[in-house]
Amino acid sequence: MPREKTLEDLFVDTLKDIYYAEKRILKSLPKMAKGAESPKLKKGFEKHLTQTEGQIERLEQVFEIFGQPARGKKCEAIEGIIAEGDTIMKEYRGTAALDAGLISAAQAVEHYEITRYGTLRRWAEMLGKRNAASLLDRSLKEESDTDEQLNMIAEQANETAKTRNGKSAGKSRKAAKKGLSGGEARAKVMPGSAGETGQTNGRDGE
Ligand SMILES: [Fe+2]
Repeated sequence: MPREKTLEDLFVDTLKDIYYAEKRILKSLPKMAKGAESPKLKKGFEKHLTQTEGQIERLEQVFEIFGQPARGKKCEAIEGIIAEGDTIMKEYRGTAALDAGLISAAQAVEHYEITRYGTLRRWAEMLGKRNAASLLDRSLKEESDTDEQLNMIAEQANETAKTRNGKSAGKSRKAAKKGLSGGEARAKVMPGSAGETGQTNGRDGE
């Protein structure tokens, strides 16, 4: 008969999943930074790269708290999300819609991480590992903040993408980037709802 599985087994398996995902993200972030058009978005990706290194270290500490070797387990979800981002990068390269697409891909990554960290934090609490829970909480907050920052950058990127596909398509790209041809009325997207470009401008929470 197979051994009984417990919450701790679930925890460790999920920890391996996010460890794999973080390492995978670490590899893809420089590519995204290089691909981004706007300097703000580039900077955002670079900042998140440094944060991701810290998150990987925190996960290693959590493995240690649970007396387990730090090991990843292939996460098909993150592979799929990153592959979609790569496709956007290829198909939208050189267009005004690139950054809006890159942000949508990055937010899909963030939301995946938010759900993982939220679950792991709760399970760590339930397993009585307060130190692990607080490490996971720090990473969860970073991911949520990154998601919020992407929301802000998305406002401009969405306008740029929209303008170039609309009536003002004849205006210069530089002007579009500065928002000069995008008009003053910015499309405000309510938290939790999908934006006009399919932006996930909401938060999953935990
Ligand atoms: Fe992360």
